[in-house]
Amino acid sequence: MKLAARVSQVTPSITLAIAAKAKAMKAEGIDVCSFSAGEPDFDTPVHIKAAAKKALQEGKTKYGPASGEPKLREAIAKKLRTDNGLDYKAENVIVTNGGKHSLFNLMLAVIEPGDEVIIPAPYWLSYPEMVTLAGGISVIVPTSASTGYKITPEQLQKAITPKTKLFILNSPSNPTGMVYTPEEIKALAKVVVEADIFVVSDEIYEKIVYDGAQQLSIASLGEEIFNRTIISNGFAKAYSMTGWRIGYLAGPVDIIKATITIQSHSTSNVCTFAQYGAIAALEESQECVEQMRQAFAQRRQLMLERLNAIPGLSCPKPDGAFYLFPDISKTGLKSLEFCDALLQEQQVAVIPGVAFGADDNIRLSYATDMATIEKGMDRLEKFVKSRI
Ligand SMILES: Cc1ncc(COP(=O)(O)O)c(C=O)c1O
Repeated sequence: MKLAARVSQVTPSITLAIAAKAKAMKAEGIDVCSFSAGEPDFDTPVHIKAAAKKALQEGKTKYGPASGEPKLREAIAKKLRTDNGLDYKAENVIVTNGGKHSLFNLMLAVIEPGDEVIIPAPYWLSYPEMVTLAGGISVIVPTSASTGYKITPEQLQKAITPKTKLFILNSPSNPTGMVYTPEEIKALAKVVVEADIFVVSDEIYEKIVYDGAQQLSIASLGEEIFNRTIISNGFAKAYSMTGWRIGYLAGPVDIIKATITIQSHSTSNVCTFAQYGAIAALEESQECVEQMRQAFAQRRQLMLERLNAIPGLSCPKPDGAFYLFPDISKTGLKSLEFCDALLQEQQVAVIPGVAFGADDNIRLSYATDMATIEKGMDRLEKFVKSRI
């Protein structure tokens, strides 16, 4: 059968492919150090699993509203009010099958052919693909280590055209781990409001920040920007619930309603009993979030020290998420070549920066144990030394 043209316009996720390759090598008995995963290595906290089990036993096994369980929408709105100072109600929220699905729904709901979406690079690899699938045009704005891989207000201003519909902001960032300061967020908000465009604020790593860094939601900076922001968030990273597939969008009611319509004809509701786990995640103790954050903080320290001690590699200190994004250009290799050779020669799995729009970098996830980090860094050091 002749496939639809849209299939050839997108590429399969490189991160998922590499993670799968590393898993397959492990299954063959090969001692692989994998820094490819975009997920916490912890199990989902026990009280969250217990709440989902209880819901399952109580027969919460039927179709629910496409918009999400009312109790979960309420709990999310409350979280956004108390944690982020945002005046949302349940009607401003849709529960989706993960943050990825949130963004996909949103693109389908708002992008028309030819609409431009501004995406700072390095970017999370699914953003441009989703824009393409929705018929839009990604306007990629490259950033560099000199600005902490953050887009400046001047760069944003310059990228705006009459066709601009959205600007995607991701802080803390995947892949760089960088967190925009409140001042930087304010300056970007000013440009968004003046240009009368919308901003998608992907806040999925909001709970994973270090050294007192503050994750400020751009929507909290006044009514004008609030009315022009759609927040995407989820449970995967903060609560180690990647496989549960629960995320959400929050924003103006008309936009949320449009995403509910789209969702009602694609996936319908998110797994009903899983949503009860998410309610417990929000309503019960947040101690588990802090414990995981502290573990990530220690690992970040170790991996960053080891990485920056390798001659030829350099990596700025990120304030959030669980990724490092070093520059590998001194090895003379481009990122795909680097990653393939590293996996073959030293059995270390990392993600090529080209997947994120930055071919001189690689992404390492430190969401793994300290012993694996030590071993993997020994191997990476050997590999880089053999190339320089
Ligand atoms: C920046 C960013 N946004 C969104 C997501 C989607 O997360 P999920 O669909 O697992 O909720 C991810 C996952 O890796 C991410 O890194």
